[in-house]
Amino acid sequence: MKPIKKAVFPVAGLGTRFLPATKASPKEMLTVVDKPLIQYAVEEAVEAGIDQIVFITGRTKRAISDHFDKAYELEAELESKGKTKLLELVRDVLPSHVSCIDIRQSEALGLGHAVLCAKPVVGNEPFAVILADDLIDAKPRGCMTQMVDHYNQHQVSVLGVQEVDPSETEKYGVVKVRPINDHVSKVEAIVEKPKPSEAPSNLAVVGRYILTPRIFSLLENMEKGAGGEYQLTDAIALLLNYEAVHAYRFEGKRYDCGSKLGYLEATVEHALQHPELKDDFLAYLKDFTASL
Ligand code: G1P
Repeated sequence: MKPIKKAVFPVAGLGTRFLPATKASPKEMLTVVDKPLIQYAVEEAVEAGIDQIVFITGRTKRAISDHFDKAYELEAELESKGKTKLLELVRDVLPSHVSCIDIRQSEALGLGHAVLCAKPVVGNEPFAVILADDLIDAKPRGCMTQMVDHYNQHQVSVLGVQEVDPSETEKYGVVKVRPINDHVSKVEAIVEKPKPSEAPSNLAVVGRYILTPRIFSLLENMEKGAGGEYQLTDAIALLLNYEAVHAYRFEGKRYDCGSKLGYLEATVEHALQHPELKDDFLAYLKDFTASL
């Protein structure tokens, strides 16, 4: 059995929902309190035992690679001023046993195409895919840790799923399942962004996948799908003809940081958990809401 050691982070998307903030900088660098979204996602992968981070990047995305690289001048400056705590924060962005690889996706042809770009690096191994704009808080075990544990027991592809409001199916890949237990179901069908009237259920895939390498050959031979893009969901639908795929209801709270409201919710709730901020911020919120 091959362990899950690589995670693919598709980060080439245009981030149009956050314009103008994302005109020249990546949406994955939007900050929730004091960390960019992509750092939360990479930390979740590292906690799950992943040690190779594969960014599928595009134009205007250099800040992501720089964020996980060594910052010589900054570190030297902090060191010379004796600012050890800040120095640790900067150095701890990525543990030393973890490496990052950038692959450039020159055209934004969809999530399926982005994942296919990782094939030369991933090769013939199972791997994770994490969409950083789905921020998932899960304690004591992160969402990807829960999914990797499940993979280690069953060696099948695993999709992180959650029930969504039935009116929202058009935003997600939606699965039809046969339940195995409280957390796990066998996927029988998957559709990308179905209308509520056509959705097979309200169980949606929320930006966490573990995939077997067979997905690459399916992605290579695919037609464009919803929105004129190569959809990962369509390749997973084909995968069902060959292998079992499990839908996994993770424990934890997911914030849709691809939307402004979800992003604000994540910001407020993370501030209320932040050791340095929580008391003052709560006092402020109480005063502020009382004045409304
Ligand atoms: C993508 C996937 C979709 C999935 C969603 C999760 O859509 O195509 O199947 O449910 O991420 O966030 P996007 O949000 O990129 O449109």
